Amino acid sequence: MRILMISSEVETFARTGGLGDVVYGLSRALARLGHEVCVVTPLYGTTRVPGAHRFWESGILARTGWGHDDVRACGVCEVTDESVTSSGGSLRFCLLANDYLFGARQGIYGDASGTFGDNELRFATLSRGALEIAARLWEGGPDIIHAHDWHAALSIIYARATMGPAWARVRSIFTVHNLAYQGVCGRDVLDRLAIPRELFHGMCLEHDGNVNLLKGAVALADVVSTVSPTYAREIRRPGQGFYLDWFFRAHAGKLIGIANGIDEERFNPRTEPRIAEKYDERTVWKGKWACKQALIHELDLDWPDAPLFACVSRLTDQKGIDLLGEALGALVDRGARVVLVGTGDAKLEELLHHASLRFAGHVAARIAFDSALATRVYAGADFIVVPSRFEPCGLTQLYAMRFGAIPIVTDVGGLHDTVEPANLALGTGTGFVAASPSVVDLLVAFEDALGAFLARGAFNELRQRAMARDSSWATSAREYVRIYTP
Ligand code: GLC
Repeated sequence: MRILMISSEVETFARTGGLGDVVYGLSRALARLGHEVCVVTPLYGTTRVPGAHRFWESGILARTGWGHDDVRACGVCEVTDESVTSSGGSLRFCLLANDYLFGARQGIYGDASGTFGDNELRFATLSRGALEIAARLWEGGPDIIHAHDWHAALSIIYARATMGPAWARVRSIFTVHNLAYQGVCGRDVLDRLAIPRELFHGMCLEHDGNVNLLKGAVALADVVSTVSPTYAREIRRPGQGFYLDWFFRAHAGKLIGIANGIDEERFNPRTEPRIAEKYDERTVWKGKWACKQALIHELDLDWPDAPLFACVSRLTDQKGIDLLGEALGALVDRGARVVLVGTGDAKLEELLHHASLRFAGHVAARIAFDSALATRVYAGADFIVVPSRFEPCGLTQLYAMRFGAIPIVTDVGGLHDTVEPANLALGTGTGFVAASPSVVDLLVAFEDALGAFLARGAFNELRQRAMARDSSWATSAREYVRIYTP
């Protein structure tokens, strides 16, 4: 199959969170299954472009309005991943270049002075440009348009409604990674972005008098997926669907949840050069001890034998960092040491900073988006806390398990689907699950975790089970292939 992937973030190029990891990992897995995959994403000022790239001799024109001049000239910078070609498949990344919209911006969605005011135009250009790129690459176009989150929603809307019968027939998949972001704009975007006015009604783009791009893609796509089965159920419940629960109920027949995988080659304590000592399931006790000592030293924590809890997260309301903040005192009282790493909302960055001052030597905080540091934390920590209020899938718990750090999660979304509650007596499960996103339930889960930490032999086995969990992309990629196939 010829698969066109469209996303605002792609790992190795530019990312702010899990979306980029998932688009990259899924695309590679699909190419490995023998498919032809083209991933289109913008070339931002902050994108890391590898040495081996080539610019297309002639770029493309992306129409984003009805008028004569409403076309955006874009260059195309192509990067191919040769590591997948033995499978008969192919993987190429096409970075859409436009200085004004992307290249001159020091950020994906915004910069130091805030969110960009023209994001709907920027991502309309991405969406339309991606279709032009696919048309150039493949005679007869792609077999599948797979659009991720609201930024790519217009690719489905344009293909269905504005580009003629051949495009309207192309099978389209829309994946919701996070319903908290829907691409809501004023009605004026209809004409400005060449969206047919007849799509502006309650069962398509219209929502509370505004244009909701995500909603339009949900209405028009052949299949809508979310990144875990539980999240696909949750968003149909009142109060959990960000005001679209009724709409997802109406479309339940084409809604499916497929849990994310991770790139098990990149996240691998057996081969990871950036950690103090490499280890596998057999040597996890010794290996993690060495990594923990290095981490404690790096972060100026004071007690090497203490159970080490860590949280690596985007700092947004979704992630429940404030709940963890409230539980910190009790955790420290119980002898734990805590590492907090992340960037995001100013008030949560402040919370981290204060915690590290208030509990100096016991709690360390780093306001950073730093994958090397994150890896050292996964390797060195005993527990990784994911206290999310909602979580479409979540990847940190998967990275944690891979490194033998035991996840402590809330019982929501993908966390529910990927972390099986531990039972040390039976020798089952891989983590600790707080019944609800509340301080009380988190504290209960922390107690269970602390108890397990003291049961050395059983705790080592728990680590081994966590490390052995299969989180590879292969299984999930096959499920995507099934929904690509009509
Ligand atoms: C978003 C979600 C997260 C998910 C990721 C990748 O960041 O918040 O739960 O794992 O997308 O799908």
